[in-house]
Amino acid sequence: MQGDDGRCFVQAFADGLHPVSLENLRAVHALAGKHGKRLVLDGSRILENAWFVQRHEAGQESRPVAEIVKDFAAACDVMALDGAQDPKSNAGGLLVTNDADAHEKFRNEVVVYEGLHTYGGMAGRTMEVLARGIEEMADEGQVQWMMEQVSRFTRRLAEAGIPLEEGCDGAYVKAGEFLPQAGEHAQDTFSAALYLHCGVRAVAPGLVDGDGLVPVQIPRLAMTNEQLEEVADAIAALYRQRDKISALQPLETGAWRDQMQYNWVFPDIEPFSFDVSFPYVIHTIERVGVLSRKQREEAIREAGYNTFLLRSADVTIDLLTDSGTPAMSTDQWAAYQAARPSASASDEFDRLESTLQEVLGYDYIIPTHQGRAAEHILSQIMIQDHQWVPGNMYFTTTKLHQEMAGGIFVDVIVDEAHNTQSEFPWKGNIDLDKLKKVVEEHGADKVAYISFEHSVNMAGGQPVSMDNMKEVYAYCNALGIPVFFDATRFAENAYMIQSRDPRYRHTPIRDILREMMLYGDGCTVSGKKDFLINIGGLLAFRDNVEWAEEAREMLRVYEGNVTDGGLATADLAAITRGIEEMVDDRYIRSRVEQTRFLGEQLLDRGIPIVTPPGSHAIFLDARRFLPHLDQDEYPAQRLAAEIYVETGVRAMERGNVSKGRNPETGENYRPALELVRLTIPRRVYTNDHMLAVADGVRRVYDRRDSIKGLKFVYEPKKLRFFQGRFESK
Ligand code: F0G
Repeated sequence: MQGDDGRCFVQAFADGLHPVSLENLRAVHALAGKHGKRLVLDGSRILENAWFVQRHEAGQESRPVAEIVKDFAAACDVMALDGAQDPKSNAGGLLVTNDADAHEKFRNEVVVYEGLHTYGGMAGRTMEVLARGIEEMADEGQVQWMMEQVSRFTRRLAEAGIPLEEGCDGAYVKAGEFLPQAGEHAQDTFSAALYLHCGVRAVAPGLVDGDGLVPVQIPRLAMTNEQLEEVADAIAALYRQRDKISALQPLETGAWRDQMQYNWVFPDIEPFSFDVSFPYVIHTIERVGVLSRKQREEAIREAGYNTFLLRSADVTIDLLTDSGTPAMSTDQWAAYQAARPSASASDEFDRLESTLQEVLGYDYIIPTHQGRAAEHILSQIMIQDHQWVPGNMYFTTTKLHQEMAGGIFVDVIVDEAHNTQSEFPWKGNIDLDKLKKVVEEHGADKVAYISFEHSVNMAGGQPVSMDNMKEVYAYCNALGIPVFFDATRFAENAYMIQSRDPRYRHTPIRDILREMMLYGDGCTVSGKKDFLINIGGLLAFRDNVEWAEEAREMLRVYEGNVTDGGLATADLAAITRGIEEMVDDRYIRSRVEQTRFLGEQLLDRGIPIVTPPGSHAIFLDARRFLPHLDQDEYPAQRLAAEIYVETGVRAMERGNVSKGRNPETGENYRPALELVRLTIPRRVYTNDHMLAVADGVRRVYDRRDSIKGLKFVYEPKKLRFFQGRFESK
């Protein structure tokens, strides 16, 4: 474009559809210079343009996008940048030049129209965001994410026959061809029909006499591929019903589209509902470490083949734990920021207490800083020396605290839990006969309580059935034996009941939880899991005020105030919002279904895993994966290390190392389950990450015969899996 005052203007990826080549830009620059004109480049979509150049312009193929961006900047005299585009700022913009005269002139204009020349009408915070955005924007991985996403999206639409042009930021639907019957109002009719059909908003901007296109633009780094596939499928479903859609009838007209108002006879179309996708969008992104394979080999050796001892910065996809690793919501962060700290009872404690009373149906709510703090207190107040504590398998910290209080843990889980290939749906259940045997052998007064875990972690995240909870409680209640839940993953257990027990198919998660908790006298919770927070725990009692008072006494000694358990007020605020989000049916479904998705992908690739897949993690069966290793060569420990080396994915051993040694014999316990846990943090990863994990594990499987065992070089006495170090045999 030729300016009339000595300027020449070029837009990078004009209107989202028209890229410019570097060669052309350079030629225009030379031509403009020859005629004494300055070349101004609108570089708001410079990345997309650079990416296109890297793909399609001769001689540019192997160059980094960041370098091509610099070449674009060098091939113009002035660049204008909309901060809300490639720099991903919320607002703001920039004019940049190396020409001192132009710079001075711009500054003089800025003070008239914008704000001071030092901030141009931007808040200081906006400038910070803009500056970071510019620093980050030429990151090859981010550009690749954006552009691949656009091309996947448009490909899916094109395959469904939708008339469109592929833009740099989305699909530009040819509304006139999509809805020829809508004539000159095809664009707005398409937008209205799309919204009515599925709630997706896409509008043609600007003047009414546009180009007949409706851009369906994809916000940068904000959505998952799966969500966009669903949007594409929704548009395709609308396309199949296009004949039923009549034109909008104008009521008010104007030159600009936002001045138009219409009347419409609502078409009788089948609505589309978004079922699979996560019920949230990406708010903030976090960069991850990417090391070469050689660097990873080095890192795991330095960590003594213990994935706990790897530096997090060296991990690409972190599936070590689902504990304290969720993505918090904007509402949680807002509550966290707004919480007013208090040395005594805070408003936030009151809110937390009433929320939990409502969700659990329990009267006494005692916050702790973690799950193990609640386990410590419960064990100390409930267990007398040499009393028995029957439980459904064990969790490391739970069992340790029971033993430290003088108790003897006894496993009464159903046999199916030890069989990694059994398809029994309730592998977390307590075997009532085993329990009865313990009680009959030792007497009810020798049983401290039942330690009843939901979604049994060490068994592979396996659920307990509602009937089992009911039966165990009826039996114990009659004998005066208390039942305490480890309700750490109780919402996930509730979802399993909803999806596997036909009687609960239509019962909301909230109601299932209330019923589950009826069959217990209290619970401990590690809040870092289902509560969707980074830190926190809970001890609660249904109605026994003496237990509650004793527990509060200990809390004061070991943890903090009875109204905070040693947590910051801000954490209490985030926990309350987390609990409200936890009982949202759509959330909990997407959470558990993502885990199942990973399980299915691994099964499809022939990998031995614990079936059926649990709710928080997929457990690889290291015995079947590495059958040539003896259990005392720690196959699961080695497999977790190999997965890291192969893929940068961090997993965790749950087998012989975790179980420890029998203190009497000094021998390893050699538990029936020798597993590697791939644990999925909540709301953090997309299903594409899960596919990458499955492919990586398959590569390890392909070379499984050459994998050797490990031996301890340092072995701590308690919880040895955290700090233990090994070397290769
Ligand atoms: N109970 C269960 C079932 C757990 O999974 C955990 C922790 C705890 C209790 C202890 O809670 O860590 O808050 O003190 N599990 C984590 C994990 C460590 O990775 O599975 P905490």
